[in-house]
Amino acid sequence: MTSTSHGTSLVGADSSSAPAGPVLDITDLVVEHRREKSRELFRAVGGVSLSMQPGDTVGVVGESGSGKTTLAMAATGLGPRTSGKIELLGRDLDTLSKQQLRALRPEVQVVFQDPHGSLDPRQSVRSGFRELRRLQPKRTSWTDDVALLDQVRLGPEMLDRYPHQLSGGQAQRVCIARALLMRPRLIVADEPTSGLDVSVQADVLDLLRESLADSGASMLFISHDLAVVRNLCSHVMVMLHGEVVEAGPTEEVLNAPRHDYTRKLLAAMPGARWREKR
Ligand SMILES: Nc1ncnc2c1ncn2[C@@H]1O[C@H](COP(=O)(O)OP(=O)(O)OP(=O)(O)O)[C@@H](O)[C@H]1O
Ligand SMILES: [Mg+2]
Repeated sequence: MTSTSHGTSLVGADSSSAPAGPVLDITDLVVEHRREKSRELFRAVGGVSLSMQPGDTVGVVGESGSGKTTLAMAATGLGPRTSGKIELLGRDLDTLSKQQLRALRPEVQVVFQDPHGSLDPRQSVRSGFRELRRLQPKRTSWTDDVALLDQVRLGPEMLDRYPHQLSGGQAQRVCIARALLMRPRLIVADEPTSGLDVSVQADVLDLLRESLADSGASMLFISHDLAVVRNLCSHVMVMLHGEVVEAGPTEEVLNAPRHDYTRKLLAAMPGARWREKR
């Protein structure tokens, strides 16, 4: 991954190992929003560039309001963008027709923080899968419902459940299964475990890690939790006020942070004080 903000190179690239071109290549992405009260325009994302190679797992960290979700949504073409260029799987989003964009959609799957909010309350797990299969028959024919549920460590009895009959952890597994069904090249996970009980967070993260290893998909993983990013992500991007202040291979950034804000985040990590004292 390479990443810059305002044209300042902050990282070393590792594109040499990439078998194909970048999965996601963003150049100088700007997203402006209007402030609620004053209606004044401000830059929620202020000129971010990022190149994600196949297999990269990029953690995006930063405080609330730093622009993580706005970046992820704009980067995948799912959210608004003021300016900047986005190439998804080598295709410039601005040059694609509506039909071409639709064809590209299944390649990117998003897993949100609130699994219950992402699932249709009127649809059983089975009918949800059925709908996806109807929309993308070829893409989804690689597995059956029971094997798919097994992949996210859920039993076949879940097929007839409705979202309200699922725990948070089960519902998030169903969301991950729905994403995996599409065989995406890129998974965007926006705080996928923040809404879950601590006891199931680690299981869901393990599951994501295994799924990536199996499918070879890349992941943009948004999180407040540096410990999780250290565990899961090959690269990390630190955002502050809509800009990338530091980015690079996770161990490199976390072992030798160059920016004060990254140091502050690290100091807030559980166990940080203990490590410093030794
Ligand atoms: N649709 C919108 N209209 C106006 N402002 C918005 C909109 N979406 C986000 N913002 C603002 O843009 C900024 C970045 O928001 P964003 O949701 O990307 O932050 P975030 O880093 O994902 O935060 P969190 O960690 O709380 O999820 C914030 O100031 C937010 O209030
Ligand atoms: Mg967010």
